[in-house]
Order: sequence, then C-alpha cells, then structure tokens
Amino acid sequence: MNHFLDIHKTSKDDLRGIIDQAAAMKTARAGRPKGALDDERPLEGQMVALIFEKPSTRTRVSFDVGVRQMGGQTMLLTGSEMQLGHGETIADTAKVMSRYVDLIMIRTFDESVLLEMAEHATVPVINGLTDRTHPCQIMADVLTYEEHRGSIKGKKVVWCGDGNNVCASFLHAAAQFGFDMVFAGPSQLDPEDEFIGLARKAGVSVSLERDAKTAVQGADLVVTDTWVSMHDGQSTKERRHNMLRPYQVNEDLMRHAKPDALFMHCLPAHREDEATSAVMDGPNSVIFDEAENRLHAQKAVVRWCLGK
Ligand code: CP
Ligand code: NVA
Repeated sequence: MNHFLDIHKTSKDDLRGIIDQAAAMKTARAGRPKGALDDERPLEGQMVALIFEKPSTRTRVSFDVGVRQMGGQTMLLTGSEMQLGHGETIADTAKVMSRYVDLIMIRTFDESVLLEMAEHATVPVINGLTDRTHPCQIMADVLTYEEHRGSIKGKKVVWCGDGNNVCASFLHAAAQFGFDMVFAGPSQLDPEDEFIGLARKAGVSVSLERDAKTAVQGADLVVTDTWVSMHDGQSTKERRHNMLRPYQVNEDLMRHAKPDALFMHCLPAHREDEATSAVMDGPNSVIFDEAENRLHAQKAVVRWCLGK
C-alpha cells in the first residue's frame, strides 16, 4: 500500500519521481484556467476523502482542486461532523471509509491517529499535517526550490524559529534529497532528537545554532514558520514570542545569507512576527510559488499513492 505518511518513509527514487512528475504536470497546465481538466485524467471514477480536524486553506483547496483537475471527485469532511469525533474508533472509521473511497487524506492532531488510520485502511492514506510533521508542504518546497535554483542536493537550508512539524519534515527531506540543515532557534524549541538523528544518519549535516546571523551565513535557502502552531494553543503565545523574537527573518538577517538565497514560509504567516513583509514580499521570497506548488506536488503524490 502506497501510503504517503512522511518523507523518510518513501524511497528516494519515488520522491524524485513525484517531484519530476509534479513539474511535468505543472508545465502541461501552464496558462490553462484553474478549473480546466488536465489532458490526462488518471483519477477518473475515483473518490478522495479529505478529512480535516484542524483549519486549513492551502491543503484543503489544493487537494480539492488537484483531484478534480485529474478527473476525480472529492468529499470534504471535518472530524467533528464524523462519528470519529464522537467516539468511533479510528480503526473502524478507516475500515468503513475504505469501502467507500479510493484514497484518504487526513489532517489531524496526534500522529497516532494518522498511523492508526493507515494501519487499518485498505486504501492509501496521505498525511495532510499532524502535530509532528507536514510532508506535503516540503514536497512543494523542494519543487519550488528546484524550479528557481536547480537541484537542492548539497545546498544549505537554514530553518529560523520553532523546531516544529514543518521543520521536522524539512529534516526528513534533508536526509532523502541530500541537503544540509542548520536550525537557528532557542534550545527549548529544538527539533526532536529523532528527526536530527535520522538526517545525520543519512550523511547530511545538521547543526543547531543559537545566533541567527551566524546560522544564515552562506545559506541557499532561509525558511521560517509561525511561532505558535495550531497544536500549541494561544496560552503559549507570549512565552514563545519572547523566546523567538531574536529569530525573526528580516532584511538585516537576510543580508547575512547568500545574495541569491531564497526565502520560504509555508503560510499562514503572522507578518512582522516570524518574518517581515519586506522579506515576505521581497525579491528573494517564493512564498506564493510554494503555495501554488502544493497543488502540483500533491497531484503527483496522489498519483503515486494510487499507482496512476
Ligand atoms: N501551509 C499549509 O498547510 O497551509 P494550510 O494550513 O492553509 O493548509
Ligand atoms: N506549524 C504550523 C503549520 C501550518 C501549515 C501549524 O502546525 O500550525
């Protein structure tokens, strides 16, 4: 079963195939209306369930549009309106859903929900973000980097801020695509040891820096994300902001990176907190290409899952 649960759980060859197919599908659609069907419709007759237990704009819209462009149909569900939110087990939900739909995408809180869904589903399951990882985002980010700068292999990627779920998937991608990573943030918010260990074991360099300017020296790509993730809760906001303020990505910080260093943010952003508008809307920012590429990358992920 081709589940897409995390970047390190998919082989390097398959990941490369997904990125290449995403790029080809994007090129094939260039200039077409958003709602137009693709020439190739590998999802004709297929039904995809999109389950959201957390809010979403990009993931929700890009999966929905992407599946439809490929000729498939979608069903948008929120956890609270399903029996899943009212006590039915994840295993039973997975077995029942598998009788109706050809693929399940789920965004949830605890990773165990995703893993249990995948264990009991008899159709592929895609991780649309958990508290721990966000693999679809980083597939779009690799596609975006390579569109602008060529192969990401051997490049220096600097993550500024919270060592959160998006950072974790960047570490997984470092291992699989062969780039080096520097984490710049407070020690209290370091990425999990498991994620760092996995990347180092794959032979790429991962370092932890407490000084943001030192960290971004020679960076090819600078990335950040919100300081308060959906699973963190607003009560942590003040403490997190105080810890993370020195890691704001602003023009002064970007001057310490390579002159052509790209800037990425998965969005949604809190402008003037984790990054300034001057950087987000500046010449090195590719944030809206990243958002667009969620569509193309996920279409290729869905095809891979379904063997199409
Ligand atoms: N980047 C991302 O996953 O955005 P959404 O929360 O809007 O889906
Ligand atoms: N780290 C953020 C990413 C949102 C796409 C969160 O989990 O809320």
